[in-house]
Amino acid sequence: MNILADEKNVESLFSIDDIRKDFPELSRYVHNRPLCYLDNAASTLKPQTVIDVIADFYTSGYSNIHRGVYLTSQQATERYENVRSIIAEYIGAQHTSEIVFTRGATEAINLVAHSWGEYAIKEGDEILITTMEHHANIVPWQVLCEKKNAQLRIIPINDSGEIILEEFEKLLSEKTKLVSCVYASNSLGTINPIQSIIQMAKNVGATVLIDGAQAIQHIPVNMQELNCDFFVFSGHKLYAPSGTGVLYGKKALLQAMPPYQTGGDMIRRVTFEKTTYADIPARFEAGTPNIEGIIGLGEAVRYVQKCGLAAIAEREALLLEYGTHRLMEIPDVRIWGTAKEKVAVISFTLGAIHPHDIGSLLDREGIAVRAGHHCTQPLWQRFAINSTTRASFAFYNTEQEIDTLVDGLKNVVSLFG
Ligand code: ALA
Repeated sequence: MNILADEKNVESLFSIDDIRKDFPELSRYVHNRPLCYLDNAASTLKPQTVIDVIADFYTSGYSNIHRGVYLTSQQATERYENVRSIIAEYIGAQHTSEIVFTRGATEAINLVAHSWGEYAIKEGDEILITTMEHHANIVPWQVLCEKKNAQLRIIPINDSGEIILEEFEKLLSEKTKLVSCVYASNSLGTINPIQSIIQMAKNVGATVLIDGAQAIQHIPVNMQELNCDFFVFSGHKLYAPSGTGVLYGKKALLQAMPPYQTGGDMIRRVTFEKTTYADIPARFEAGTPNIEGIIGLGEAVRYVQKCGLAAIAEREALLLEYGTHRLMEIPDVRIWGTAKEKVAVISFTLGAIHPHDIGSLLDREGIAVRAGHHCTQPLWQRFAINSTTRASFAFYNTEQEIDTLVDGLKNVVSLFG
């Protein structure tokens, strides 16, 4: 079955068969079935070119960076620093020094909470986050608020999983020091009206952090247009190695921030009496970083640019439409997250069958989905449920894989009677 009237047009953007050949994992078998990987919101698979670049670094280019006077160290430094330029260009940052490499979005948010939060948040201040935040964009602010005697306030969402902007407006005041908001929800798929949110927060003088972990692989972003103060994302959801991530911060803000971690590579001069610190971004990159991972991140961005983010987004929108349509055919499926603007994430429940049972039974058929709370427990409390099953698509997925999922779910239903 296929509901895609203009499938031919999409096929012409790039060949899905060719794209799939770029990802070696897609030809794997799991439990003697072809792997049907539908957990891309958790992590995306890696294209061969990313794997090759890492292997190449390990086989003919490995050295530590920023330290060596010898050729291979200088070459490694060049490759690592070149990724800063690739990322700056990809997200439209004005300066490469505004790009800080981290272990992921979680570390980037923790960096801001500890460093910026330490001097910027005072007793009685308010930090606003939304109901649909990932734990990584809740807990660091909770801890900071407890420490500073500040208030964490929650922007409500409607039953479709969209931020209620009128309620957000009411929460904003001169007490609001930070608005920290997810661009696209990993659990609901909702794409938030980030431009309006940033503008509304700026109107009361608040600093704004955008968690782009679930957006960066689907939606073009430009820091000059968005005008947020901080933007974070992880590499592993962007076809890049795990343990990589980015904190973008406006130059003046980063320059004013104290170090988050201390040690090698982030210092200017150390004596036993006193230490002075390096300029940004080195000030925030203590210790030997994940050099090969960052080189892989640069290659992943190149790969995405080669495929074309617009084409990727268009392909994923069709998969979302097809997947939603097909899942709704199954009686007792309820989709959580029906916002008008969504990335290709479908969270659903299936009658009273526990998502862990669904996930485990699907696994036997080679189908990988996520089952549980997806690190957004407060979001599910809003909907009075504990967990869902989540299928999330990348542009390399196919309609046939969605059919496989639907068949698998029908088998689950018959098993449970
Ligand atoms: N945050 C990741 C997810 O949504 C791990 O599954």
